[in-house]
Amino acid sequence: MQKLDPEKLPRHLAIIMDGNGRWAQERMLKRIVGHRKGVETVRTVVEESSLLGIKFLTLFAFSSENWLRPKTEVRALMALLKAYLAKETTRMMANNIRFAVIGDRSDLPEDVNSAVAEAIAKTSQNSGMVLTLALSYGSRQEIYQALTQLVDAVLAGKIPREKLSEDLISSFLYTSEIPDPDFLIRTSGEMRISNFLLWQIAYTELYFTEVNWPDFSKEEFYKALANYQARERRYGLISDQVRKRR
Ligand code: FPP
Repeated sequence: MQKLDPEKLPRHLAIIMDGNGRWAQERMLKRIVGHRKGVETVRTVVEESSLLGIKFLTLFAFSSENWLRPKTEVRALMALLKAYLAKETTRMMANNIRFAVIGDRSDLPEDVNSAVAEAIAKTSQNSGMVLTLALSYGSRQEIYQALTQLVDAVLAGKIPREKLSEDLISSFLYTSEIPDPDFLIRTSGEMRISNFLLWQIAYTELYFTEVNWPDFSKEEFYKALANYQARERRYGLISDQVRKRR
């Protein structure tokens, strides 16, 4: 296991959990078996992140495009989600984790939405890690709805035109309460962002691994974090300037 510096962990870690389907198909199993195994990885990563003291963990669980998958797979994913929430809320309470969701919740089936609302309410006073699931989430849609609200507010005279700023735009996104991610992991070898947190990842460090999500073990997780710790974040500056700022 890699030695990690507790002072240099990402404050906000975001993950695109990919490769459940391929993991299953490579083993001649149904895709849903891969998703089920993927839930075990979710448990491991949530638990480890919280133990390490990561403050914000955001997982891309279901994109706005995923609704177009075969109905049986969508239904199975929704059932998994509901079962996860029913089971894991107790563990979230034990670990002082606050649960949140980003995305268009109105698209979710009613029973899933109720389970989401319940988990949010139950964990709302917890002060430890914030676990956010992106559900029915698409970044362009998020930016579009933020701009619509912003334009309406400006036209209604509620926000003066000269008050527009990057921070103001951020405050209209689903992630208004969450800092931008420091580190983004994508599993399964795909090197795309797939409409995830496009505005928020302007300065995020990216990490791609060939490992499929169901095989993303505690060791792989530590390896990714060690890789993050070895990097120098420059935000457009040069090394000397970054060192002087420390
Ligand atoms: C990507 O694998 C994964 C998803 C679309 C969903 C992620 C869902 C889980 C890990 C399980 C449910 C989550 C929770 C939090 C209970 P893929 O199906 O796109 O894999 P493929 O690209 O190999 O087909």
